[in-house]
Amino acid sequence: MKRREAIKLTALATLGMAVSAQACPSKNLCSTDSDKNRILMAPKDAKNLTKAELKHTPLITLGDKDANGYTLVEITVGQAGIIHPSVNGHWIDFISLYVDKKLVGTTELMAEISRGAAAFRVKLDGASFITANAGCNIHGIWVSTIKL
Ligand SMILES: [Fe+2]
Repeated sequence: MKRREAIKLTALATLGMAVSAQACPSKNLCSTDSDKNRILMAPKDAKNLTKAELKHTPLITLGDKDANGYTLVEITVGQAGIIHPSVNGHWIDFISLYVDKKLVGTTELMAEISRGAAAFRVKLDGASFITANAGCNIHGIWVSTIKL
């Protein structure tokens, strides 16, 4: 190895160590999907939700239809006055919406500054089902479906 190449490699190695030694400012900013629980969860009895299930199961609410035919679909995570926490290390990190199994969109959420809520405008003409997925980084992906 020539001297110039050795100096270049040493500089790159030093830079790499400096970057990896930086402290993460917030766990949610530095976490990856592999850090998150991605197990699909479902309530044991949809008509009798436990406190943990009320805290995680997405609630789908239909709103008005606009002049162009798009219906407001709101998703909130947390029901019956139980709101899922949004703190560093435990939060709803995404909400996805499907109409008849077709993905409408996904919203990525950050801890502390937002809670588990999202809204979409969707064409529902002829649709049969709406499904919302909400991902809790600790407690898995919770799913709700409503029939139209
Ligand atoms: Fe949770």
